[in-house]
Amino acid sequence: MKMEYKLILKAIGLEAERAKVKAWAVGGFARDRFIGKTTKDIDICVEGDTHSLIDFCVKKYGAEAKCFKAFGTARVNLACGLKLDFVRCRAELYPKPAALPKVRPSGLKDDLMRRDFTCNALALSIMPGEFLKEYDLFNSREAISKGYIEVLHDKSFVDDPTRLFRAVRFSARFGWPLGKNTERLFREAVREKRASLLSRQRIVNEFVKILREKCSYKALKLADKYGLLDFVFGNLKYGSKIDTLSTFEEKIALLSLMQGERGADFVSSLLLPKEGTALCFEVLKWREAKAAPAKALSKKAVKILKLYKPAVEPFKLRPLLLKAEDALALGFKGGEIGSALKKLAKAQYRGKIKNKRAAVSFLKTLK
Ligand code: CTP
Repeated sequence: MKMEYKLILKAIGLEAERAKVKAWAVGGFARDRFIGKTTKDIDICVEGDTHSLIDFCVKKYGAEAKCFKAFGTARVNLACGLKLDFVRCRAELYPKPAALPKVRPSGLKDDLMRRDFTCNALALSIMPGEFLKEYDLFNSREAISKGYIEVLHDKSFVDDPTRLFRAVRFSARFGWPLGKNTERLFREAVREKRASLLSRQRIVNEFVKILREKCSYKALKLADKYGLLDFVFGNLKYGSKIDTLSTFEEKIALLSLMQGERGADFVSSLLLPKEGTALCFEVLKWREAKAAPAKALSKKAVKILKLYKPAVEPFKLRPLLLKAEDALALGFKGGEIGSALKKLAKAQYRGKIKNKRAAVSFLKTLK
C-alpha cells in the first residue's frame, strides 16, 4: 500500500503537469504522513481544473468516480482501496455565521487558509521535480511536531461551528491540547451558542464522527468540559465503557441505555436512519421489559446489556423457553395461549423457571 500510493500520486502529478495544473495532497493525509501514518483517504487539491485528473484515474486505474456538481469536486475510489478526493483550490466566504460558504477558485495559499486547524493545513506537492515537497505556509509542522490544535484565524469557530466538534475529536485522537488562543475562542463560541446555528443534521454528523473514534470517551469528556455536549443532548450521560465497543451502532446503543428514562428521546433526537438505531431500540425495549423476551436477543444486544449492567443475571436475557405451539400441545386454546405465555415470561424473568421441563410444568399448573 505504501509504495502503491506513491506510484499513484506520482502518476497523477505527471498528468497534472501535462494538463498544466498543479496538485497537492493536503489535509489529514499530509498530517498523518508527518506523524508516520499512512491513510487511504487522500484529499488532492488542484490549482486549476480537476477534470483531467479525475478522467486520468478512471482510465488508468479503472477507478470509480463520483463527481459532485460543486466546484470540480469528486470522490475517486481505486481498486487498491485508495480513496481520492479531488477538489479545486478555493477561497471561502461565509455569508453569515455557520452558513455553508460561498466559494471562488483560488490558489493553494487561500485553500490552506480556509481550513480548520494549522495541523490540517500542510500540503505535499505531487508534482514532478518536487514530489512530496512540503508546503508549510501556516506553521503546520510545528503544530504537528509539538502537538497542539490551533485555528488558522480568529473567526474559524464563528464561520463554521462544526469545528468545535472537530477540535475535541482531533484533540482526543492525537492527545494534543487546544492552543491557548484556540481554547479562548472555543469557550467564547460555546458561550455565544454558535453551535446552535448548525442544523441538527450537521451536529449529529459530528457526534457520529466522535463515536467512530477509538477514543470517544476522551472526546466526549472534553466536549463536556467545554459545555459543547449540551448542543447534542442536554445533560448527556456517558462513560469510559463506550470505548470497549468498536462500532458506532453499538456505542450509540450503550449511550441510549445510559440515558435512563430519556433513552428513546435521545435516540429519536439524532434523526438517524432506522438501520442505525435498531440495536438501540432492541436494548431499550429489553430494559423496559419485566418479562423474558419472546425472541432471542441479538448477540450485540446481549453484549451491550451486559456491559451496561454486568450484574444482570444470565437467565434474564434468555428468550421465552416455550412457544405458542408448545402451549397448544398442552391443551391451551385461543386467548389462553397468550395469557399463559405471558405468565410464563414473567416467571422465567424472575428466575423461577430455569429450563424447558420446568416451563412445561409451570404451564400445566395454569390449566
Ligand atoms: N476541513 C475544514 N473544516 C471543516 C471540515 C474539513 O477545514 N469543517 C478541512 C481540513 O483541512 C481537513 C480536510 O478539510 O483536513 C478534510 O476533511 P476531513 O476528511 O473531515 O478531515 P481529515 O483531517 O482528513 O480527518 P480524518 O483524519 O478524520 O479523516
